[in-house]
Amino acid sequence: MLRTHTCGELNSLNIGETVTLSGWIHRNRDLGGMTFIDLRDRYGITQIAFNMDVDEVLCASARKLGREFVIQIVGNVVERSSKNNKIPTGEIEIKADKLNILNEAKTPPFTIEEKTDGGDELRMKYRYLDIRRQNILDNLLLRHQASKETRKYLDSKGFLEVETPCLIKSTPEGARDFMVPSRLNKHQFYALPQSPQTFKQLLMVGGVDKYYQIVKCFRDEDLRSDRQPEFTQIDCEMSFVDQEDILNTFEGLTRHLLKKIKNVDLKEFPRLTFDEAMKYYGSDKPDIRFGMELVDLTKLCQGNNFKVFDDSEFIVGIRVPDGAAFSRKKLDKLTDFVKSPQIGAKGLVYCKYNEDGSSKSNIDKFYDESFKKGWAKEANCNKGDLLLIMSGEKESTRKAMGTLRIHIADELGLRDPKVFAPLWVIDFPLLEWDSETKRFHAMHHPFTSPKKEDMKNLDSDPASVRANAYDLVLNGNEIGGGSIRIHDKKIQEVMFKHLGFTENEAKEQFGFLMEAFEYGAPPHGGVAFGFDRLCAILGGEESIRDFIAFPKNNSGRDVMIDSPSKIDAQQLQELNIILNK
Ligand code: AMO
Repeated sequence: MLRTHTCGELNSLNIGETVTLSGWIHRNRDLGGMTFIDLRDRYGITQIAFNMDVDEVLCASARKLGREFVIQIVGNVVERSSKNNKIPTGEIEIKADKLNILNEAKTPPFTIEEKTDGGDELRMKYRYLDIRRQNILDNLLLRHQASKETRKYLDSKGFLEVETPCLIKSTPEGARDFMVPSRLNKHQFYALPQSPQTFKQLLMVGGVDKYYQIVKCFRDEDLRSDRQPEFTQIDCEMSFVDQEDILNTFEGLTRHLLKKIKNVDLKEFPRLTFDEAMKYYGSDKPDIRFGMELVDLTKLCQGNNFKVFDDSEFIVGIRVPDGAAFSRKKLDKLTDFVKSPQIGAKGLVYCKYNEDGSSKSNIDKFYDESFKKGWAKEANCNKGDLLLIMSGEKESTRKAMGTLRIHIADELGLRDPKVFAPLWVIDFPLLEWDSETKRFHAMHHPFTSPKKEDMKNLDSDPASVRANAYDLVLNGNEIGGGSIRIHDKKIQEVMFKHLGFTENEAKEQFGFLMEAFEYGAPPHGGVAFGFDRLCAILGGEESIRDFIAFPKNNSGRDVMIDSPSKIDAQQLQELNIILNK
């Protein structure tokens, strides 16, 4: 070993010991008679002292060392004269006797500090340097703990970890596939899995009974802060279970992880139906850490000759606590926000309920005090509050209000990352109408079973059918989703028909699964957690990038290894690929 201890473990109990430490030079301070080096490794920082009076040559060579040089030190642990109680090694320092340079280093392009001066692209290009920063290391540590605890929990419940292949056929999770050309099978392609969905169902047919895998998934879709083209799922499936069993098992996993990683005890998770989530929060992944629920004001607002409201299908409001103090400028900004293409609302009506009991809205011309009192009663507005109102088509207006709700809560600091508010959203619609392609899409995926009580409407009114599907939502983020599956070949065929697959298309794409269902498929269901998202939220952030060791940028590029990249002519030829100019 090139060290006897790490840079994070020595303290006053070690005073008098001779130790060997190895690490990177975090900081080098030359104070004339003394030179101090902060030596850093994954475990912490230890101060090394070089004394000119004791060893002039050694001290002179220490002075020349640059940031991030890799060195080895032999020396004595001594008590520090000026102690640093902010770090665990702050009571001691090492009086250096020997110095060995293990490797020199160029000056890094950004500071290796928690608050670095490096921009995003630069950090990604030199990600190996970025990982030396304590905050990124902490994220990787959290991720390691989360996967370790996940394995512990699932193992204790009898789950088997089984690996499924990466070179497969398309899986229908709704994004585009990444394709891999096959050299041995001319003009044919593998798809990388968007999830192991079909394989985990086949494992249930195979009698595995309880499966899990912490697994890479690949989706070629537009990227956002909570989406990467390759990401990790905790993927699970169980046989002979109903929805209740699954919700309980994975509520248990979430509770276990929160306890072990954040020492947080969670109460029983609330459950909202999809319809309730949309009604009260305008979102199927509501953040329930704060109130500001949506209130239907349609009846109270219509029929008063205000054309915008009278022509609207739906009118919805939210109460902003203490929002009456918002300035005109701030309200204008909120109006611009809701009118942005991303939200697409036509405008924003406000009503301030002032501390002196008066009220002021931007539609005072149409509505007198008694109306405004009625709205306040419906929306629970008190003196000092602000009521914001939007109108339009029901679904899109609810969604727009849901987005505004989150935006304002962010501004008001109501989304405390140290508070964890999980919930299940259940009873999703089975199908979703796509007006562009004029066909139904599976809201979850085509293997999701309809609710028994809605089965009778599957042929006559497919849009009204609800699914045995559920999402796990944490602090306004969808961290998991799953369903009870169809295990009956006939129902699966009806589903494919509704999704616009011809018999032949269904056979070609999913024939293997349909055939498997003819050999005794058990009732089964499962769930997959977005592991990167889960880690990010546990770490108090919503962007998943810094919880992945080597993430891609927003254009799907790895700027460090410069990928994707061109391949040479011979490789193209072997793969039978001809590129268009
Ligand atoms: P779903 O598509 O809902 O379900 O995915 C499960 C969870 O994976 C996470 N997730 C992502 N995380 C990062 N980047 C992405 N691009 C990305 N896409 C999804 C989300 C999501 O909740 N096979 C089904 C599960 C099942 O039915 O059992 C599935 O993949 O947190």
